[in-house]
Amino acid sequence: QTNETLILQEVEGRVAILTLNRPKALNALNDALMDELSAALAKFDGDDNIGAIIITGSEKAFAAGADIGAMASWSYMDVYKSEYITRNWDPIARVRKPIIAAVSGYALGGGCELAMMCDFIIAADSAKFGQPEIKLGIIPGAGGTQRLPRAVGKSKAMDMVLTGRMMNAEEAERSGLVSRVVPADQLLAQAKEAATVIASMSLPSVIMAKESVNRAWESSLREGVLFERRAFHSLFATEDQKEGMTAFVEKRSPEFKHR
Ligand code: CAA
Repeated sequence: QTNETLILQEVEGRVAILTLNRPKALNALNDALMDELSAALAKFDGDDNIGAIIITGSEKAFAAGADIGAMASWSYMDVYKSEYITRNWDPIARVRKPIIAAVSGYALGGGCELAMMCDFIIAADSAKFGQPEIKLGIIPGAGGTQRLPRAVGKSKAMDMVLTGRMMNAEEAERSGLVSRVVPADQLLAQAKEAATVIASMSLPSVIMAKESVNRAWESSLREGVLFERRAFHSLFATEDQKEGMTAFVEKRSPEFKHR
């Protein structure tokens, strides 16, 4: 595995596209792949020429989970001491720029959890989501038991986590897990279109919008609304707010400075 490129990186305009690339293992997420993914995300997050990031997989699999072969013989001390998951998954949650998951085929276990760590999910009509860890004698370990109920509610999350069954794209959209379902052959084009729109906006407002929506998950309504109000007020200190509103009044397109 060591010399293989596990994450293909492409830049189109102001959009970075990261493609999980372990086709023989249906993009199973081993440590080497997660290290590369975290490094690529950190790089593009810090790159002024990039305004949004897409994570995608292959037609058959976004990712079929954490690497079961690698984990099979690990002991408690192996996973505890190496901070398995925390070490190279947590950096994903620290990315400030928007990340879209473009999911085709299987998004299972860690694959579903990775998709849920992205800011929103666009699914191909072929997508299948699931948390099948229970069938392996474990439970989801990268946030699945926490993010799934927040996305689809307790009843459906319990159903998924306890039975290990898969959810198709239609059910995933109906349940609020994904933002839209598109024909499989249009998946990347549609994800790029959404990412390009986001990347054309003023970056400070994009980052504050992402931060504020994330607060809705992590705090009470009162705290969340206060956070939003502070962020909203602070945007009046930016040149882009003046430009955005002046352009509207003058009936022209805004030319944001901070992108
Ligand atoms: N880890 C390691 N290898 C995997 C894998 C995984 N999660 N998923 C698939 N592969 C490998 C298979 O072993 C197989 O390799 P070989 O060709 O060398 O035998 C190859 O990918 C193709 O897979 P299949 O032959 O099984 O393909 P299929 O089309 O018959 O089935 C599938 C597809 C239903 C997705 C099936 O592969 C499957 O059930 N995969 C495991 C899904 C799973 O349990 N994921 C949870 C992992 S645990 C986890 O993620 C913990 C966590 O929360 C972080």
